[in-house]
Amino acid sequence: MSLKIALFASGRGSNVQAILKAIETGTLDVSPQCLIANMEDAPVLDLGRAANLPTYCIPHKNLSREQHEADVLKALASHNIDYIVLAGYMRMLTPGFLKNYAAVDHYRIVNIHPSMLPAFPGTHAYEDAFNQGVKTSGVTVHFVDEIMDNGPILIQESFPRHDDDTLETFKARGLALEHRLYPQALQYLAENRVSFRYDADIDRCFVELKTHAPC
Ligand code: GRF
Repeated sequence: MSLKIALFASGRGSNVQAILKAIETGTLDVSPQCLIANMEDAPVLDLGRAANLPTYCIPHKNLSREQHEADVLKALASHNIDYIVLAGYMRMLTPGFLKNYAAVDHYRIVNIHPSMLPAFPGTHAYEDAFNQGVKTSGVTVHFVDEIMDNGPILIQESFPRHDDDTLETFKARGLALEHRLYPQALQYLAENRVSFRYDADIDRCFVELKTHAPC
């Protein structure tokens, strides 16, 4: 049975689109149960509706984090989901929310970040990497814990910065990689190839990826 996911997004939704396309073309075996966006004018809302997904617009404006997350949890309660997939969801989740979907050895929220973490965490990763003059950057899909862009890394891939790159061409190369990498990472989850190893000495959890899907 397909893995059930909830998609969370805040804006354009090109990663949501890439995920939906991978499902449509048969390279990704997950079943989105709903899409939740926190911005009223987010174009991703149209994508969710066009895909006939239960689509919730839950604006965070004028609400405390806890009030907003209570509304999100209410929407999620009517769906039976295995994982939350953050696809450009530009909001930190509180520890209170995370405890529903993350334990030290079983994380159930994934995120995509446009840098080779732990380099360039934060909301301007493309700009920060480009302005630093990196020769190589990357994309990371990781599990979410209480610290921003910190949780166990599921998959990472690098991309080059070319000498004649502008920020726009650099970003476009990274985004194309995001669109390939996120569906691939989710497919690892769908194939049950992901396990966690907790290292008590350094109090950190690592993702171990089985090479082949178990029979
Ligand atoms: C992506 O670059 C993603 O890595 C970052 O926010 C951006 C969202 O883009 N977290 P989109 O809405 O998926 O087009």
